[in-house]
Amino acid sequence: MCGELRAEDAGRDVVLMGWVNRRRDHGNLIFLDVRDRTGIAQVVLDHEKAPEAHAKAEAARSEYVVAVKGRVRRREAGLENPNMPTGEIEVVASELLLLNEAKTPPFSPAEDAIANEEVRLKYRYLDLRRTEMQHNFALRSRVAMAIRNYLVAEGFLEIETPFMTRSTPEGARDYLVPSRVHAGTFYALPQSPQIFKQILMISGFDKYFQIARCFRDEDLRADRQPEFTQIDLEMSFPQMDTIFRVVEGFLTAAFAAAEIQLTTPFVRMTYDDAIKNYGIDKPDMRLPKMVSLSELLPSELRTTLKIEQELPILGFVIPGAGELSGTERKKLLSEVRTGFGDCGLDLLDVVRLRTNAEFAPLADAISTALAKGLGVDALSSDDLITVVTPKLGTPAMWNYDPQWIWKRVGALRLQLGAKFADKHKCFEPSGENGRYAAADFKFAWVTDFPMYEWNEEAKTWDAAHHPFTSPHEDDIQAGRLANDKGAVRALAYDIVLNGTELGSGSIRIHRQDVQAEIFRSLGMSDAEAHERFGFFLDALEYGTPPHGGIALGLDRIVMILAGATSLREVIAFPKTAKAIDLMVDAPTPVSDLQLRDLHLRVATHS
Ligand code: AMO
Repeated sequence: MCGELRAEDAGRDVVLMGWVNRRRDHGNLIFLDVRDRTGIAQVVLDHEKAPEAHAKAEAARSEYVVAVKGRVRRREAGLENPNMPTGEIEVVASELLLLNEAKTPPFSPAEDAIANEEVRLKYRYLDLRRTEMQHNFALRSRVAMAIRNYLVAEGFLEIETPFMTRSTPEGARDYLVPSRVHAGTFYALPQSPQIFKQILMISGFDKYFQIARCFRDEDLRADRQPEFTQIDLEMSFPQMDTIFRVVEGFLTAAFAAAEIQLTTPFVRMTYDDAIKNYGIDKPDMRLPKMVSLSELLPSELRTTLKIEQELPILGFVIPGAGELSGTERKKLLSEVRTGFGDCGLDLLDVVRLRTNAEFAPLADAISTALAKGLGVDALSSDDLITVVTPKLGTPAMWNYDPQWIWKRVGALRLQLGAKFADKHKCFEPSGENGRYAAADFKFAWVTDFPMYEWNEEAKTWDAAHHPFTSPHEDDIQAGRLANDKGAVRALAYDIVLNGTELGSGSIRIHRQDVQAEIFRSLGMSDAEAHERFGFFLDALEYGTPPHGGIALGLDRIVMILAGATSLREVIAFPKTAKAIDLMVDAPTPVSDLQLRDLHLRVATHS
């Protein structure tokens, strides 16, 4: 293959096939850079030695498909290209075939990605020819294979579950498929194989996995696609630790496929600790955590500084953000204050405190407390210190979410972390030659999630994970399902990497009575529960083993490993943020005949 040739191959006869990456015409000598999946080799066509081939090369253009017969030779001293893996050699062609011509492409696959993503997606076949994309998909294939091999070796069975099924409750809208045979009825595409994998446990397949496609009609973001792939697994009789070990094992195998040696076990923290330290349930631990500074400000000082008495004061540091000039500081303060709106939070300007003799000791105490909280000797003058305080008369958001302040400050921490990313470089690869090293991947397990989430709009309690998740036994015994939903903890866990949720799972409910009670506690009547999940409630009554599992987003794992910021870089034919496939142009209207077959009529609702 083109990209595999090295100095040791000098003297070998080779046949290369691929695309013309670039062509340089020096009269008697024409150079064709020929590209295939493995890389690029320079082919030389010498008018003296191979006049016929040379003549054909005159006609060749970028992206033509060619076949070359020739002999590898070392390039002359001084003409090597150290930037190319094949830069020490070239292939002297004896024959050249132009297998196919190419129109001038709208952008060159020989270059970096163009900024216009719509054009990239429309001509996806050309975009995928780019070296970077070829790497991403080779990586994806290796990662998937490593995971599959690991799970099979651990005794898991790969079992497929249907695409045309009933609605599964993962919190998004369903994609529906109308039935032709049964007028007015619809299949739903699965949001996940959740119910099927639980039923497989009831069926006695105690270790199931599937690299499963899932479909969700939801608002799309850089890390969300309407169809995506999960590494989905379920086990009978597991402890949480069993599942953590399996996931750590397959992630270690997956990262090894990308030449990164992870160390396990991963950090574990409870949901409450994640909120307290990072203000979010998917902590990005590449940036320092938040530190509580509430103790530092006695109540008189709070009064002087117009700070609410009982509420927390939080500080964090953006390391190496650089010292800000007076104007830069003012601009930043005003930006953040505008961002806070009227939510009741304010920034305490530590620099201002320091320049004021009365408050200078407080500024020092804040720096000391932050350094202590972060486990370092002292902060550097480059570190940006941010202290957020609740203003007097802060609106009572915490009545329904007591963790609200931590979450809001956590969001600011991420926002400033992103803003100063160029300076602190915490998100950049730290390995040799700009490559990622194991230390760049900060994994964490987050456990003890709340069972319910208050939905302020609908004024209902929703399942924080999904309704098949088992609550803590203590919370069931204490009757909290009915009386104190906000305090019920779930046997649910997430695996997080660098601030992205990679996967979620839980120990499931395996008793029919508990499952029925959970449906009730979510405001579902017995009749409705029966209508939607009757088959499952029935199945639970025939000897259901205790079971649990998890699903991880394969696309997200590969995205992070590839250093990409959008799933579209690691999904061959993705959809835009508006859920359109620009290459095949889907979705499209269908003919009246098709609609009639499906018993459908298109109506426009206002
Ligand atoms: P959950 O809904 O949290 O759990 O999904 C698990 C993981 O799937 C990935 N993911 C997505 N990736 C890309 N685009 C999307 N739209 C998208 N939605 C989810 C994420 C997420 O962490 N049945 C449960 C799992 C279980 O309990 O075993 C489930 O699907 O990486």
